[in-house]
Amino acid sequence: MFKVGIITASDKGALGEREDKSGELIAEILESKGYKVERKIIVPDEEDIILKEIVYMSDNLKLDLILTTGGTGFSPRDVTPEATIKACHRMANGIAEAIRNYSLQITPRAMLSRGVSGIRNKTLIINLPGSPKAVKESLDYILDSVHHGLEILV
Ligand code: MTE
Repeated sequence: MFKVGIITASDKGALGEREDKSGELIAEILESKGYKVERKIIVPDEEDIILKEIVYMSDNLKLDLILTTGGTGFSPRDVTPEATIKACHRMANGIAEAIRNYSLQITPRAMLSRGVSGIRNKTLIINLPGSPKAVKESLDYILDSVHHGLEILV
């Protein structure tokens, strides 16, 4: 059973001013597909904090998959991709390309997500956009292929 970590990057969420619907939804979808959610955390939109959390989940908890939600857009506080790039040893651009490609069929605004995906040791890290709608659309499209990728990565 693959072990998953979920990071919600949201200033308001971290202050308790916004409910973490997207993080909850990721957990629900992943659990329904047989993944084990080992850690789920809300962090502010701070590059250092997001990077530390990715590294902790990968190096200490040895999780197979880390999904982030939020902080991929154009707001000056959106820095999830920058933290993810720093954590990764090898990029897996195809996953981020697939998310954008599929999402563009739903909304042209998908071009505004700067999300990336990559690999740190044996952990796959994927940035998802922030809204629950975008999370569901993205995960529905990529999960089967991601599962195959995880089998190769271990
Ligand atoms: N992708 C999908 N599948 N569905 C969506 O509704 N919204 C877009 C985009 N990607 C969207 C999507 C919008 S409006 C933005 S601004 C970007 O994701 C970045 O979102 P974020 O800043 O919450 O990460």
